[in-house]
Amino acid sequence: MPVDGSSVSGTVCVTGAGDDPKNSHLRELEGAKDRLILCKADLLDYGSLRDAINGCEGVFHTASPVTDDPEQMVEPAVNGTTNVINAAAEAGVRRVVFTSSIGAVYMDPNRGPDVVVDETCWSDLEFCKNTKNWYCYGKAVAEQAAWDVSKEKGVDLVVVNPVLVLGPLLQPTVNASIIHILKYLTGSAKTYANSVQAYVHVKDVALAHILVYETPSASGRYLCAESVLHRGDVVEILAKFFPEYPIPTKCSDQVKPRVKPYKFSNKKLKDLGLEFISVKQCLYETVKSLQDKGHLPIPPQPEDSLRINS
Ligand SMILES: NC(=O)c1ccc[n+]([C@@H]2O[C@H](COP(=O)([O-])OP(=O)(O)OC[C@H]3O[C@@H](n4cnc5c(N)ncnc54)[C@H](OP(=O)(O)O)[C@@H]3O)[C@@H](O)[C@H]2O)c1
Repeated sequence: MPVDGSSVSGTVCVTGAGDDPKNSHLRELEGAKDRLILCKADLLDYGSLRDAINGCEGVFHTASPVTDDPEQMVEPAVNGTTNVINAAAEAGVRRVVFTSSIGAVYMDPNRGPDVVVDETCWSDLEFCKNTKNWYCYGKAVAEQAAWDVSKEKGVDLVVVNPVLVLGPLLQPTVNASIIHILKYLTGSAKTYANSVQAYVHVKDVALAHILVYETPSASGRYLCAESVLHRGDVVEILAKFFPEYPIPTKCSDQVKPRVKPYKFSNKKLKDLGLEFISVKQCLYETVKSLQDKGHLPIPPQPEDSLRINS
């Protein structure tokens, strides 16, 4: 965000030039024609980040690989984050907001079942490595690097830790967190797992970033989560809203007891004024958006088939 606050500089990957069709949704945002500047940048190219950040008042560092491939994940996430904080320090920006993840927070096998997951929790790096959760490992090490470099360089850093993000898609492509839901609607998942997941609406994640940027007293980490559901609850909600899809009804694990949702606190963001959108609304809007963007066929409704037959 440049110093005069009147325009926004966004970065796009070097491989996808500013005029690449995959960025067209950004150009279509309200006011983008006059106020959005798209710069080519790569997290591992310090010069490109410095050029993009130069003259900015604040930085939202969101770009990251999202993969469990250790080679593609760890170096770009960690060195990329270090590069962004260093470039922000050089440009003298007012505040950096870093999009971390629940992956940097909750991967701890020694946490008791009654412990409330909040901003004091950190994932256990050895556990992430041993279980090959390279995304969580990369995000945790990247966040730690962000705190270390910010402290060293005197950068005002605030971190948002979102859980799995759902809601309408702006971009034409489907990202990893949306596939989590899409697989239950296409028939590709025949059963659901005996596990739990925390969810949040993408608009609340965006608002959280704005709130922590604009509130001078905001500091530290902010866990951005609305609720934790078992997969069984997710498929039940989806089936109520969209009974026309082949949504699984059976758990893949018929032996172990049903995993219980963990407790968490989103009080820090609520105290900043965030009123979270319900997970049911998130799921409904996600499916509607998948239909609107052509990622999910809309099965014929009973009235449609009557009309076709008559
Ligand atoms: N979605 C979730 O459920 C969730 C939950 C918690 C946290 N987060 C965090 O939120 C952020 C956005 O995630 P997302 O779900 O929106 O994922 P996404 O759709 O894969 O977006 C990641 C973005 O980072 C860019 N990027 C990747 N490597 C880059 C590099 N070396 N240089 C420059 N840009 C690079 C990608 O550009 P290209 O498209 O050109 O590759 C892409 O635009 C990430 O930091 C992620 O860890 C996401």
